[in-house]
Amino acid sequence: MRLAVFASGGGSNFQSIVDAAESGALKAHVVLCVSNNPAAGVLERAKKHDISVSILNPSEYENQKEYASLLLAKLSEHKIEFVALAGYMKMIPAEIVHEYSGRIVNIHPALLPAFGGPGMYGLRVHRAVLEAGASESGATVHLVDEGYDSGPIVLQETVPILPGDTPESLAARVLKLEHQIYPRALALFTDHRIQADGPDVTVHNA
Ligand code: GAR
Repeated sequence: MRLAVFASGGGSNFQSIVDAAESGALKAHVVLCVSNNPAAGVLERAKKHDISVSILNPSEYENQKEYASLLLAKLSEHKIEFVALAGYMKMIPAEIVHEYSGRIVNIHPALLPAFGGPGMYGLRVHRAVLEAGASESGATVHLVDEGYDSGPIVLQETVPILPGDTPESLAARVLKLEHQIYPRALALFTDHRIQADGPDVTVHNA
């Protein structure tokens, strides 16, 4: 499976996916890294692994249709079959969501449908979880639809909230879990163990 990973930041999830692909645990080739941010740490990681990089920032395009068609052309130039969003902080154009319907996933650092939606990213998510007095948090991999964090859930696992947790300590615990579950969630697709029919997702022998 030819995979593109979209990331805006440090790219530790990108790294966990690349590592799983290189070890053979994930039967995929990460062939493209897309970022909106020319200073993102993920770009260095991509270069180290000889993975092509494409920097496209939607905010620089007056015409969003032009941006969407450039992005689509990039994906098709690299014959991308599947897209994984890993800390990508921009909305995905509807054209891409439709073209890759059932073949585009995102990871979110909380137990969706709770603590998702507009404005819920990075430390804000963990702060909201702690302020709500939740007893656990976790990570969720879900298919991407046109909404914010609203597509069908593929895989979700929990971590405990410990006394004295700060948004930073919780973020670190959740991130460790993300590194485990994202490659496993992608493997469900490469191993044909998942069936997505609109909002209904069935995982076989997970
Ligand atoms: C991850 O925790 C990811 O779940 C989160 O950004 C971080 C990126 O870290 N994504 C969101 O908050 C999206 N709503 P990374 O760059 O080290 O993979």
